[in-house]
Amino acid sequence: MTRDELDEIASREIEARGSRRHHLHVCVAASCLSSRSDQVKKALEDEIERLDMAHQCRVTGVGCLGLCKEGPLVAVEPAGLMYHGVAPDDAHAVAASLGSVAVERLLLPSDLPFFERQRKVALENSGRVDPERIEDYIARGGYAALIDALTTMTPPGVVEQVMRSGLRGRGGGGYPTGLKWSTVAKASSPRKFVICNGDEGDPGAFMDRSVLESDPHRVVEGMALAGYAVGASEGYIYVRAEYPLAVERLRKAIKQAERLGLLGTAISGTTFSFKIEVRLGAGAFVCGEETALIASIEGDRGTPRPRPPYPAEVGLWGYPTLINNVETFASVAPIVRNGGNWYAAIGTRKSKGTKVFALAGRVANTGLIEVPMGITLREIVFDIGGGIPDGRQFKAVQTGGPSGGCLPEQFLDMPVEYESLAEAGSMMGSGGMIVMDDTSCMVDVARFFMEFCMTESCGKCVPCRVGTVQMHDLLSRITEGRATLADLALLEELCDVVQHTSLCGLGQTAPNPVVSTLRYFRDEYMAHIVDQRCPAGVCRMPQAREVTA
Ligand SMILES: Cc1cc2nc3c(=O)[nH]c(=O)nc-3n(C[C@H](O)[C@H](O)[C@H](O)COP(=O)(O)O)c2cc1C
Ligand code: SF4
Ligand code: SF4
Ligand code: FES
Repeated sequence: MTRDELDEIASREIEARGSRRHHLHVCVAASCLSSRSDQVKKALEDEIERLDMAHQCRVTGVGCLGLCKEGPLVAVEPAGLMYHGVAPDDAHAVAASLGSVAVERLLLPSDLPFFERQRKVALENSGRVDPERIEDYIARGGYAALIDALTTMTPPGVVEQVMRSGLRGRGGGGYPTGLKWSTVAKASSPRKFVICNGDEGDPGAFMDRSVLESDPHRVVEGMALAGYAVGASEGYIYVRAEYPLAVERLRKAIKQAERLGLLGTAISGTTFSFKIEVRLGAGAFVCGEETALIASIEGDRGTPRPRPPYPAEVGLWGYPTLINNVETFASVAPIVRNGGNWYAAIGTRKSKGTKVFALAGRVANTGLIEVPMGITLREIVFDIGGGIPDGRQFKAVQTGGPSGGCLPEQFLDMPVEYESLAEAGSMMGSGGMIVMDDTSCMVDVARFFMEFCMTESCGKCVPCRVGTVQMHDLLSRITEGRATLADLALLEELCDVVQHTSLCGLGQTAPNPVVSTLRYFRDEYMAHIVDQRCPAGVCRMPQAREVTA
């Protein structure tokens, strides 16, 4: 496939689209599908057919449009309208309104801050392309970065753009992506690998699933660019088996790219060859840790090993391996296409670009958002998220999942950056963001995350295997009103030991939710222990005293 042939596909596609006056984009990502958006799509297609409007209007299934809570969502282009909560019965009203007055009762306001405050880079095609058609992706500039890089740039030139972009790993650690690419590129080895980490085990997180379901070609293109840059010709995408739709679309995307010669041997007439295989994970959280993931691909039990050596030097089957997260790879094609400086101009001095978050919890608008780094938590929670529903009070925002922490109101105006979040006692993490109000008990939240880590601990090292059980037991005693101040002291001591002596990130970060809630909500711990009272009314205390007048 040459650049001319690619442009030809794009022009044909754009021409075919241009012949239709209206486009109905029905979200067919997981959340909308669960509220039967497939039936909405079918009903719209039938109605367009019945009204003999097929020459004027095309119905397309697209990936996540973001405001998942309001699904099924249907976007009307080029009118720029968005309908929410659409049912199959609404198909006639929607079809009949095309080119005339919009269906008021289904319409979302066009100036919703939910959409206006976002900046889409990794998600720029989500909700805009049919994830099952490579032509759609190509029509939006897809694979141009790959062909141009292969034909006009050297591998070090590609690494240089990624370096310049300031992109940092979106899987949680925030390691500079360009630096990692350059390490793998410099390793001299007859064989190298590229791995895409799509394990996504944080409870409530669905950023990577959504990217894979909504725009799988973006990840494929990012991986191929990485392969060229570091000198690898084999890639693996590791996805959890609980994401069947993502896996299906990914497999389809790989086949389509192979069919057009965008994957395979001698891509675009060059000497570069690259193939991608999909590997399924069985859902263990620890398998997202890079060395455990590599062991799992090799067919061994997915347990971490000590680092160094890092996978960049000794990775899959002992060869240098580049491992990056789904969102990291999804950010690569626009960086190569627009240049590293373009990306570096978004965000802050140390945290460049954008970040995708799965916004959840006690907030009016839940869904998938992508924001420029440096945006404040207040803007996310109150503007994009629409604030706390039911007139309740904001209490905390949890970022970083089981490895992160809970930040109280005093941090609402803090910019979202790797460093500021870590200084405040939380972390960027992979993008889970849970908003809590005054009905959340912070001790119970800490207990919930500890239970998760305890269950997911692989058991290889003692501090994590035994420490998480002990910490969970102590937290349970507190939430049940059975703990003493000596138990609290022991909990704090254990946090320190487990943090500093565990083998991998799971154990090292498991105490974080406890440490951050103790730092900012110690009064709640004391209320449970000293007064045997849960201020939020969540924990059931054994001898809850009768309140008498
Ligand atoms: C317990 C544990 C689970 C992890 N799970 C994931 C995951 O699901 N996805 C991911 O990309 N990285 C995960 N990581 C981080 C990876 O080890 C690795 O740093 C990451 O894939 C590198 O990609 P990046 O530099 O693009 O972030 C996990 C780390 C730990 C310690
Ligand atoms: S006794 Fe405990 S530490 Fe020893 S091998 Fe068995 S599980 Fe591991
Ligand atoms: S820290 Fe926990 S998850 Fe990591 S190797 Fe040790 S036991 Fe396994
Ligand atoms: S899944 Fe439809 S808007 Fe997110």
